Amino acid sequence: MSQTHKNVTRRPLVAGNWKMYRTASDTRSLLEDIVKLVSKIATMDLVVCPPFTSLSVAAETLGRHGILALGAQNMHQNKEGAFTGEISGPMLREFGVRYVILGHSERRQYFNETDAQVAAKAQAAVGYHLRPIVCVGETLAQRDAGETTAVVTSQVRASLSGFPVDQLEELVLAYEPIWAIGTGKVATPQQANEVHLNIRKLLVKQFGSKGSDIRVIYGGSVKPDNAAELMAQPEIDGALVGGASLDAKGFFDIIESARSARASEND
Ligand code: PGA
Repeated sequence: MSQTHKNVTRRPLVAGNWKMYRTASDTRSLLEDIVKLVSKIATMDLVVCPPFTSLSVAAETLGRHGILALGAQNMHQNKEGAFTGEISGPMLREFGVRYVILGHSERRQYFNETDAQVAAKAQAAVGYHLRPIVCVGETLAQRDAGETTAVVTSQVRASLSGFPVDQLEELVLAYEPIWAIGTGKVATPQQANEVHLNIRKLLVKQFGSKGSDIRVIYGGSVKPDNAAELMAQPEIDGALVGGASLDAKGFFDIIESARSARASEND
């Protein structure tokens, strides 16, 4: 567990979380700009998660390229039903969506999502061949009170409760300290790696050796100028990028940092 090198069996993953930004008509040009830049990077999983209303145009734009996978930002756990305003897994699959962000702190904070809901959604997602990106992370008050490990441990355990062991290769975890999201305050690479290492230990405890293959990515103010240091950390397998993913060049630079961190491991 104390290795200083990355586990090269974990393929790096960089995902852009567009949040509630960009209309459908703005989506095409941003994606085309991103595709032009990333067209040579095939050694990583690259994902963009635009709003639901952009999925159709995004699928159409990306369909011709196949370099970037499409992700959604949330999903209801039921297949269908009287749930006004919600979107189901089969609805996402129809647009070729492959990933879904679940339990983002903004969903937990503003829409009262609980660990139990996140767990139900994660299980439902893999049932629909969607790869869940399950988010966890502590508030500043919790960090200051020395509760980071306890909070993250309890979120990981509860959000993954009942997750099918035969689907673990589909699972991605994102550690996103809430105090670093959208604030410009980034966790230091050491702070982030320390939490990632705890998450790794927890995953191995919960799922045995398969737990060491689950990707754990970092999110929270990842920018072109801090990505290289973060991505070089042994336990950081990629990034969940908010604000910086809305700028094609910025997103590309972050992807490049993750790629070179991996390339230097392979040297
Ligand atoms: P940020 O957002 O990069 O804008 O901090 C990250 C996220 O919320 O996923």
